[in-house]
Amino acid sequence: MQLENYRGLNALVTGASSGIGRVLSLRLAKEGARVALVARREAELETLAEEIRAAGGEAVSLPCDVADAGQVTDVARKALEAFGSIDILVNNAGYGGQSNFLDWDLEDMERLMRVNYFGTLYFTKALLPQMVERKTGWLVFVSSVSGKIASPEKSAYAATKFAMSGLAEGLSLDLEVMNAGVHLLTVHPGVVRTPFFTEQMLRGMPEKTRNSMVEPEGLVDAIFGALAKGKRELTYPGGLSAGYIVKALAPNFLRNQVLRVTKK
Ligand SMILES: NC(=O)c1ccc[n+]([C@@H]2O[C@H](COP(=O)([O-])OP(=O)(O)OC[C@H]3O[C@@H](n4cnc5c(N)ncnc54)[C@H](OP(=O)(O)O)[C@@H]3O)[C@@H](O)[C@H]2O)c1
Repeated sequence: MQLENYRGLNALVTGASSGIGRVLSLRLAKEGARVALVARREAELETLAEEIRAAGGEAVSLPCDVADAGQVTDVARKALEAFGSIDILVNNAGYGGQSNFLDWDLEDMERLMRVNYFGTLYFTKALLPQMVERKTGWLVFVSSVSGKIASPEKSAYAATKFAMSGLAEGLSLDLEVMNAGVHLLTVHPGVVRTPFFTEQMLRGMPEKTRNSMVEPEGLVDAIFGALAKGKRELTYPGGLSAGYIVKALAPNFLRNQVLRVTKK
């Protein structure tokens, strides 16, 4: 289902206070959509909402911890009260981390799953029914290339993104079988220049990876392009998707390549 005209549509973006979600929210507003901005940091959301309003757009800020099912239900209700409906849900809130499995704190591993995966599940459960009822809607899941190919010191993060991509793949098929009129796009970004990477992570990043970093604006352009074409999957930069084919055909070769390029 192609999406080209955003005028009159209502969107909700999680993780709107920073990075990819912030750029995506600004672009949605510029294209004419009303945007509900969700994240924990209220001041950042309000600054963004004011920026959108100053440019003639419409936005509401709805602070929320996506890992808390009760808060998500409450915020989804507030967004529906404010806009009447939500046509586009972008599940983007998330964080990373890097550690050897043995050193990774169990509580943080659980928290990571609650934010990256369960946050997506809660918002989709809360907002999909009204899309199905109206037989229209778009879901955008911001997963990661790490949701297709794991790498060293990313085990807990990759698990959250594999879960997210698996949910997306299954749900997209359910929507098709139901003839629901709702489209799901899963996005697998590579390495994007955002506050996602702490100074420590940047210092530990292999030079090759650091040099392959892309800007969030480029990713957002690609997301809008993929929605306009009715695509169901987007990997950005596109060249990274060659890795999926290599993984399927020659898993040991890909494994050795991953070990080689992630070597510090
Ligand atoms: N940057 C990359 O290279 C890259 C690559 C692949 C995938 N991704 C994915 O892209 C998404 C966005 O990341 P980004 O690069 O834009 O990072 P970012 O700049 O750090 O933004 C992350 C956003 O998620 C929000 N967030 C984190 N925990 C939250 C929680 N518990 N409840 C509500 N909101 C929460 C943050 O807001 P608050 O702190 O205000 O809550 C922030 O708005 C993530 O899912 C990430 O896994 C990023």
